[in-house]
Amino acid sequence: MDYNLIINANCEDEMQKFIDNDVKFDLILTDPPYNIDKDFGNNSDKLSFSDFLNVTKKRLGLCHSLLKDNGSILWFGIHDYISYVHILMIEVGFYYRRQNIWHYENGFSRSTKEPLTHYEPFLWFSKSDKQWVYNVDDVRKPYKSEERLKNPVYYRNSKGERLAWQPNPKGAMRGDVWSFPTLAGKNFKHEKTEHPTQKPEALIIEMIKAFCPKDENGFYCGSILDPFHGSGTLGVCCEKLNKQGHRIKWIGIELEKKWCDIARERIDRVVFEGNITRGQ
Ligand SMILES: C[S@@+](CC[C@H](N)C(=O)[O-])C[C@H]1O[C@@H](n2cnc3c(N)ncnc32)[C@H](O)[C@@H]1O
Repeated sequence: MDYNLIINANCEDEMQKFIDNDVKFDLILTDPPYNIDKDFGNNSDKLSFSDFLNVTKKRLGLCHSLLKDNGSILWFGIHDYISYVHILMIEVGFYYRRQNIWHYENGFSRSTKEPLTHYEPFLWFSKSDKQWVYNVDDVRKPYKSEERLKNPVYYRNSKGERLAWQPNPKGAMRGDVWSFPTLAGKNFKHEKTEHPTQKPEALIIEMIKAFCPKDENGFYCGSILDPFHGSGTLGVCCEKLNKQGHRIKWIGIELEKKWCDIARERIDRVVFEGNITRGQ
């Protein structure tokens, strides 16, 4: 099986081929069409509500068959429909772990009759209710305040013993609100492509760090599938981590050749930067 590649195809066909060949992944991390009328060069974001539910259920079923026993799925959505996707996840056999929020300060508005949009949810479900991967220490953050350190704070452990709380030297546990700016504006002009719904690399890297399996030396070594690869953010992020010594195996599937070409360019820039002198 070849990894670290983009497949220009319909993900439903490719996922079925993987299933037929008994290929399994550790993680499916994807940002599918939200069905909000975006122009991806196809009609995938313009379905009737019932077609949207039907294809989503079919795709989730394929994802379920493709995950290893301790595998997880991370699936972006929009507040309008995320509760329907949540129910479909349960119907195809996944177990709920968490509804996470991708929060951005630089929100946007299409109407003055509703609040600004400041978040997009992404669901985390696991294949098993007993085992999954979550690398808690890899996504810790600095404590917000040192107030709690000034006077001891006590708590009771499971045995009922009274203990003084100590801060974790690696930082505070990350929460389920993931704050990263969207790619709007001048600050991101080098990262942003023409793709209408490109995700920020910083967010996707943080998600990989949290959910990708690691080897005994602490390197990420899992296999990750993105069936809706778009401009290739998942591939770019895996390759950036692989340049640091990790060994992530990834596959991105995308219907439109235009986005596959943009993804390939972005990924080549990461893989070959510093390795070859271009033009020689
Ligand atoms: C929300 S975008 C993904 C954006 C991506 N996360 C990025 O950062 O660029 C969804 C993508 O799924 C693609 N798509 C839609 N239906 C598809 C299908 N059946 N198979 C593969 N790709 C599909 C669209 O063309 C679109 O580029």
